[in-house]
Amino acid sequence: MVAVAILAAGRGTRMKSSLPKVLHSLGGKSLVERVIDSLAALAPTQCYVIVGYRGDLVRTALGDRPNLQWVEQTEQLGTGHAVQQLMPYLQGFAGDLIVLNGDVPLLRPETIAQLLNTHQQNRNAATLLTAQLPQPKGYGRVFCDSQNLVKAIVEDRDCTPAQRQNHRINAGVYCFRWADLARVLPNLQSNNDQQEYYLTDAVNELVAAGADQSPVMAIEVEDYQEILGINDRKQLATAYSILQDRLKTHWMAAGVTLIDPDSITLDETVELQPDVIIEPQTHLRGQTRIGRGTRIGPGCLIENSEIGENVTVLYSVIMDSQVQAGSRVGPYAHLRGHAQVGSQCRIGNFVELKQARLGDRTNVSHLSYLGDAVVGSQVNIGAGTITANYDGVKKHQTQIGDRSKTGSNSVLVAPLSLGKDVTVAAGSVITEDVPDDCLVVARARQVVKPGWRPKFLIQQDEEAGAGG
Ligand code: UD1
Ligand code: CA
Repeated sequence: MVAVAILAAGRGTRMKSSLPKVLHSLGGKSLVERVIDSLAALAPTQCYVIVGYRGDLVRTALGDRPNLQWVEQTEQLGTGHAVQQLMPYLQGFAGDLIVLNGDVPLLRPETIAQLLNTHQQNRNAATLLTAQLPQPKGYGRVFCDSQNLVKAIVEDRDCTPAQRQNHRINAGVYCFRWADLARVLPNLQSNNDQQEYYLTDAVNELVAAGADQSPVMAIEVEDYQEILGINDRKQLATAYSILQDRLKTHWMAAGVTLIDPDSITLDETVELQPDVIIEPQTHLRGQTRIGRGTRIGPGCLIENSEIGENVTVLYSVIMDSQVQAGSRVGPYAHLRGHAQVGSQCRIGNFVELKQARLGDRTNVSHLSYLGDAVVGSQVNIGAGTITANYDGVKKHQTQIGDRSKTGSNSVLVAPLSLGKDVTVAAGSVITEDVPDDCLVVARARQVVKPGWRPKFLIQQDEEAGAGG
């Protein structure tokens, strides 16, 4: 039996924020959500989240996560004090308790599994994760013998200068046999630099209580980046770049080309097929999927969108939309509001599509707005064509049949339906439906007056004539 406790009650003073530290976002997910996700494979019998500072916000933010139990730590008197709050909940619990700091978001599930495994195989009283940090400032230092049996943990601020030379740090990730931990928890003292009740002192108590029968053991993580704790904004940024690095390594190994990876950002939820090429300054977010052979960028933002195979997208923004195979988008196009572009289409410069559905081989090449439109296949939308979809109160739909063409600078006033093979003359303002196979012209007829001269010139001529 394994229970889990996540310590999330602290304010996170060093973030200098009104938001509790564990709710700060790291690549689209809060720190504490990441911690919870790293535990998914364990399937714990109970998962306690210890909340305090703005606990209401933490609860709301995690509201849709199943099987969490909330434990209130009304005063934040330290990590040991936080775990003491579990005593009423875990009376008589005969299993192990995994304790994680809510601010350690990069842990791999494999590492937690390894911690639990080592703990159970050796029948330890406690097992903790450690790492060798190049810059261990701020972390508790762990002192072990050659068998990885823990001798002591000392907080950075309580260390002597000599102790500070030890770069082996406490990750804040522990597995305890609950019965043993419950015995020492009531003994914690706050006689340290911060006047707090330290969970690390519970570890020290267990060491003193008889490591011979029930060892307290440390295991070292190979990649110290995994256990970075987030205490300030700088560490938050560092964690983000570590996450990005992990993701980019993954996608490059899967056959994706990233040109200038440092200038690209990817959400973990994005899916890419082999031979996708991502050019510089491109950002892919949310539930975005990109098909094989597609080239995105430079300079694109794509969110919650599905892009087919062999598409090119250049300097464009695509949100909540779809583009099918072989189409070309941009430069400077904006697709949003569930725009759907068929295959082999061309969406060109300064074109905005909002809730517009386009068939295959349709071109909207220059300077257009199509909103709330259903457009057929092989349609050519002339430069500057606009759907006037909004009457000030409601949005209305425009339909354009297959193979129709709109001349430059046409305005299609919705609700409106144009049939198939319709040609709209340039500069028209179309307000009434048009059946199939028509030319429609809706503009003032051109007037040409031969021999016409401006009045002032005629006057000048007359004056010149009178004088001569
Ligand atoms: C802690 C460890 C330190 C370790 C480091 C790893 C202790 C005493 N020290 O230090 O050895 O190297 O983590 O990152 O445990 N929290 C509560 N209630 C409290 C205090 C804290 O829930 O009363 C929560 C915080 O929200 C946070 C976590 O516990 O998520 C850790 O607290 P923090 O103050 O960041 O501990 P560190 O000083 O980093
Ligand atoms: Ca911390």
